[in-house]
Amino acid sequence: MTQVNAPTDGVAVTAIGVALIRERESRGPDRLYDDPFAAAFVDAARRDFARTEEGSARWERVVTLAEQFFAGRSVGVRLVDDRVSEAVAAGCRQVVLLGAGLDTRAYRMGLPGDVTVYELDLPELFAFKEPVLGAVGATSTAQRHILPIDLSTDWAVPLGERGFRADLPTHWIDEGALPYLRPEDHLRAVATLTALSAPGSRFGLSRFAIDPDAPPYAELRRLVAGDSDARTPPLDAGRPGEQWLVEHGWRTEFRAWDDMIVPLGRAVAVNNPNVGVVLAERV
Ligand SMILES: C[S@@+](CC[C@H](N)C(=O)[O-])C[C@H]1O[C@@H](n2cnc3c(N)ncnc32)[C@H](O)[C@@H]1O
Repeated sequence: MTQVNAPTDGVAVTAIGVALIRERESRGPDRLYDDPFAAAFVDAARRDFARTEEGSARWERVVTLAEQFFAGRSVGVRLVDDRVSEAVAAGCRQVVLLGAGLDTRAYRMGLPGDVTVYELDLPELFAFKEPVLGAVGATSTAQRHILPIDLSTDWAVPLGERGFRADLPTHWIDEGALPYLRPEDHLRAVATLTALSAPGSRFGLSRFAIDPDAPPYAELRRLVAGDSDARTPPLDAGRPGEQWLVEHGWRTEFRAWDDMIVPLGRAVAVNNPNVGVVLAERV
């Protein structure tokens, strides 16, 4: 059995929660997508967590959180899949996953071989992900490059060293990673991707209406902080919003969550017309 080391705390642990969500969705008869690698990540992580009593207890907490977030988050995965398909159909040949976690779109979506997927995440995440993918013999249909890096540092130069081209349109995906950065680092990351975006590039900003003190969010923060420091999340002030994007050369369009989910047939409406995604295209 391949020896792996699943992150059991720190922000990378959140990626395991999302893998649990994709594994559950993939088992369902009415699944919105099929991630055949999610089960391998879940199995490997479960084994790793089970090495200690404390780890076993944390595993149960990750599982509980994944169940609590399942309904909305799983639909969110499918919506991002659809946007990737739209972008590729429109000619984008570069997809960059900011905080890729245990995402396997380079393997599971049948993306053409002339598409390059760049996955950015912390080194401890890839120290777990790559051996698991290797052990199951995963083969990506698209070109795939990983960049183990902290997104709050300068990642533009190392991305270029992996072959990224700023003169080609890019589809940028932030699927729950940038909000973990401090507001100034979040803004710098969006400024960086803006500078690297040729006309036709795409990006999206989620607009939520959540209570950060509601139990699942507070528990998520405790888990990420290793129970040592359950800080309140940083305020949204200073993070880039739709206005920032417009002022920096993006054309934007807001799509309400409740409209986007209609074709998917899941009862996850939020009944708030302000919740959704600001879709941005570089002009
Ligand atoms: C909620 S998970 C989502 C993962 C993936 N996008 C998905 O949907 O499965 C957040 C991801 O962001 C990554 N992340 C958070 N802060 C980061 C940072 N400063 N640098 C790099 N990655 C980071 C975590 O390691 C984790 O994989």
